[in-house]
Amino acid sequence: MKRNTAGVREKFPAGRSADEFALAESGLGLNQQMPPQLPALTVTEEIPESRLARRSLQKRVSRQTAQIENLLAEMEAFSYTLAHDMRAPLRTMHGYAELLLERHGDRIDGEIRDFIQRIKAGSERLDTLVQDVLKYSRISRTEVDLQPVQLERLVREMIAEYPLFRPPNAEIEINAPLLPVRGHEGFLTQCISNILNNAIKFVPPGTQPHISISTKAVGSSVQLSFADNGIGIAPKDHRRIFGIFQRVHGPRHFEGTGIGLAIVHRAAERMGGQVGVKSTPGKGSRFWLQLPRA
Ligand SMILES: Nc1ncnc2c1ncn2[C@@H]1O[C@H](COP(=O)(O)OP(=O)(O)OP(=O)(O)O)[C@@H](O)[C@H]1O
Ligand SMILES: [Mg+2]
Repeated sequence: MKRNTAGVREKFPAGRSADEFALAESGLGLNQQMPPQLPALTVTEEIPESRLARRSLQKRVSRQTAQIENLLAEMEAFSYTLAHDMRAPLRTMHGYAELLLERHGDRIDGEIRDFIQRIKAGSERLDTLVQDVLKYSRISRTEVDLQPVQLERLVREMIAEYPLFRPPNAEIEINAPLLPVRGHEGFLTQCISNILNNAIKFVPPGTQPHISISTKAVGSSVQLSFADNGIGIAPKDHRRIFGIFQRVHGPRHFEGTGIGLAIVHRAAERMGGQVGVKSTPGKGSRFWLQLPRA
């Protein structure tokens, strides 16, 4: 229905269209350049229709969003089950390879032993990968009940518990006091552990990892930062590294599946927070996690 022209025309002096009327009022001649549409004259007539169109579009978007969410939940459940069920045959492979070496190791020659060891190592690698995928998947499946978390207590407990986070493996400095946040303690433990593990892993050979942990208030949030003395990350990769299986530094030098930061990203999202990094290659990185203040 072309209401915008036909309907509007009636409101103007006989024989003059909306465009002609506006031109006359503006003092511009008909042969002068004007934009093809004069919005002020068409708006009132378009409102009921555009409102209807907007409502129907909103309904369609909500319906399709619900469909996509259902599909994603199904895919998530499928990959979770698949990953979970893969572990049993994997353990069988690993177990028999180990048994062969244990019971018949002295009767098999070097090449066969080498092949069996490769089967064992391959199944171990695959099992680590499957476990990482399950960890990632669980972040979405776990109910999140946000509670105040005393970050300083949590970080100190983690350092006390894991020798990897203490000298000579690493020097971790806490800029006390660390502000409390609203979050999920399990998710936060996972995030802090993944960020610290990376800071300790991605250092130049022969360098003792040094990490400085601090917090600052940002509006109604708290930003928790981890500044390291590692190898750094090129700006073009700052977003990419938070995706699943995204690794920037090659497996020849650093081990990993590329899932640690994807877990951090997803966990932060589920706690209503954000993550990011500032880094310059060769000059270290500062990973940050921003969460609501407790
Ligand atoms: N502190 C850091 N310094 C330099 N590079 C980093 C740092 N943290 C992460 N990266 C880069 O980001 C990539 C992704 O990190 P992520 O933790 O997801 O994977 P990973 O450590 O390689 O494997 P995983 O954590 O699954 O064992 C890393 O492979 C590395 O290239
Ligand atoms: Mg990692």
